[in-house]
Amino acid sequence: MSSLGHALREETTDDSGALAGQTVVLRPTEPRHAEEFLAVLTEPEVARWWPDYDLDRVRRELLGPQVFAIEAFRETVGLIMFDEDEDPQYRHAGVDVALAPRVHGQGLGADAVRTLARHLFHDRGHHRIVIDPAADNVKAIRSYERVGFRRVGVLREYERGTDGTWHDGLLMDLLVGELR
Ligand SMILES: CC(C)(COP(=O)(O)OP(=O)(O)OC[C@H]1O[C@@H](n2cnc3c(N)ncnc32)[C@H](O)[C@@H]1OP(=O)(O)O)[C@@H](O)C(=O)NCCC(=O)NCCS
Repeated sequence: MSSLGHALREETTDDSGALAGQTVVLRPTEPRHAEEFLAVLTEPEVARWWPDYDLDRVRRELLGPQVFAIEAFRETVGLIMFDEDEDPQYRHAGVDVALAPRVHGQGLGADAVRTLARHLFHDRGHHRIVIDPAADNVKAIRSYERVGFRRVGVLREYERGTDGTWHDGLLMDLLVGELR
């Protein structure tokens, strides 16, 4: 880690490993979250961007240490996850997020992404975070811009949609110091 990384290192977690945002709390996953996550991911408005999850896949892929349950108003309203490229030459983290449609548009997505970004910068010593929404996911792009992410460029025919055709993605990045 760079000296900048060391200087910025400060714990943002509590004893349980939870991360506190303005309204949201990001909680480490427990087995009970599998069904709650599946309920969110099978909402049509979410499944459009997070297709093909069933309970087995949720348990396999979304109950790990790099996933948090997003809690607000004392209930689980979504999930947020990160991955890390540990190659020292390119070290950075990536983030992905899904929220139940009933809470969209209230700033909770921005709150969750901001809270995880703070953890990745401060506790895990990253200097750069990327996120790659579908190029036509205007709500997600706007929410990430609100946190400070910038548009890097279009990833042409980046991901296959539920209709079986390839769709463009948008690469966005956020450097330490740009978090809003
Ligand atoms: C993407 C997502 C996490 C954003 O969270 P959110 O809490 O709904 O978003 P926020 O309230 O933080 O921000 C939404 C922004 O988009 C704007 N917005 C909402 N609907 C919009 C639309 N149809 N067109 C353009 N902008 C829109 C809002 O005004 C707000 O911008 P503002 O802060 O400038 O007012 C959430 O909507 C979600 O889970 N969607 C389904 C799954 C998904 O798309 N995941 C992301 C995959 S990369």
